[in-house]
Amino acid sequence: MRVYNFAAGPATLPLDVLTRAQSELTDWAGEGMSVMEVSHRSTAFVHTAQRAESTLRSLLGVGEDYEVLFLQGGATGQFSAIPLNLTAPGATVDYVHTGAWSAKAIKEAKKYADVRVVADEAATGYASVPDMGTISSGPGAAYLHYTPNETIGGVEFGYVPTVEAPLVADMSSTILSRPIDVSTFGLIYAGAQKNLGPAGLCVVIVRRDLLHQARPETPSIWDYTQMAAAGSMLNTPPTFAWYLLGLTLDWIVDVGGLSAMAERNQAKATAMYAAIDGSDYYSNPVAPNARSWMNVPFLLADPAREADFLAGAREAGLHNLEGHRSVGGMRASLYNAMPPEGVTALTDYMADFERHHG
Ligand SMILES: Cc1ncc(COP(=O)(O)O)c(C=O)c1O
Repeated sequence: MRVYNFAAGPATLPLDVLTRAQSELTDWAGEGMSVMEVSHRSTAFVHTAQRAESTLRSLLGVGEDYEVLFLQGGATGQFSAIPLNLTAPGATVDYVHTGAWSAKAIKEAKKYADVRVVADEAATGYASVPDMGTISSGPGAAYLHYTPNETIGGVEFGYVPTVEAPLVADMSSTILSRPIDVSTFGLIYAGAQKNLGPAGLCVVIVRRDLLHQARPETPSIWDYTQMAAAGSMLNTPPTFAWYLLGLTLDWIVDVGGLSAMAERNQAKATAMYAAIDGSDYYSNPVAPNARSWMNVPFLLADPAREADFLAGAREAGLHNLEGHRSVGGMRASLYNAMPPEGVTALTDYMADFERHHG
C-alpha cells in the first residue's frame, strides 16, 4: 500500500512519475535497456538531459543570460562551491542567518571568505525572518546569501530581498513551489530531493556575468564555467536521477505549471496551519508572516504523547512526521508532490488524536 510520506527529503515523488518510470524501466526510449544502462553521452540520454533543462527554464522563466547546471555533491557542496566560484581570497561575503541551513552555509563559507552576517534571527530563536526592507548588502560584498525556506525550522521568506550585491539563494526546499522572478537573483541553487526529483543532483542557476572568476583550486566538477561548457557532463552524472527529474518537471507542467502549484501549495499549508491554530493541543512556533508552505513543524501540548502520535499516524498511513533530530517535535513536509488528500488525512488524524488524548 502506498502511504502519505511527509519526509523532508528525500521526499515523496508524484505517483505518475513513479509509474511512468516503472513502465519503461527495462526498455527505455526504445533502447532495449534501462536509462541507467545507456551512456550519458548517447543521443537518447543527451536529449533527455537537455529536455529537462529546457522544461526547467520554461517553468521558472530562466533567461538566456543564465546557465542552468546539474551538479553533484548536493546543496552542501554548493556551500563551498559558491565562495570558490564567486570570490577571490580575502573577499567579503554577506549572509543572512535564519536557521540551521543558513548556519551551515555560513560555517562553510568562512573557510574561504570574510563572512559578514548582515541579519540574524537569534532573538526569536530562529522563528522569524527579517522584516522586509531591512536586509542590505554591505560595502564591497561579493554576494549576499540567504535561505528562502529553512527546512528544519519551517521558516520561509514571504518576499525576495532587494540588495545591491548579487543575490544568492538556497532554494533547496522551495524551488518550483511557486513562480519567482529569476532575474532578481545572481545565483539560485537547490538540492533535488524535495521538489525536483530524487536525491543525487543539485541544480544551480547562475547569471553568466558571474562566471569566469573561479579560484584556480576549485574542483573542476564544481567550477561553473567548466561545467557549463561541458553541459554538466565533465564527469558521469547520475543519469537515473536526471531522467526522473525530467519526469517530475513534466508532471508539474501537466498539473498546470507554477501558478497551479502555488495555489495548491498555499491551500495545503493554509489547511495545515488552520488545524494547528484551531486547536489548543497543537502549536507552531513560527511568526505568522514567516510560516513555511513547505515544512510545517508542530508540537503537541503533551510531549510525552509524541511516540503514540507517530505510531498512530503510521497506522493511518501517514509516515515520517517526526521533526528533525536536532529539534524534535513533529514536522509535516508538504512539497509539490504531496497531494491535498494527504493533508486532509493528516488534519483528520490530528483532530481524532486530540479528541482521544487532548
Ligand atoms: C535548505 C537546505 N539547504 C541545504 C540542504 C542540504 O542539501 P544536501 O543534502 O543536498 O546537501 C538541505 C537539505 O535538507 C536543505 O533543506
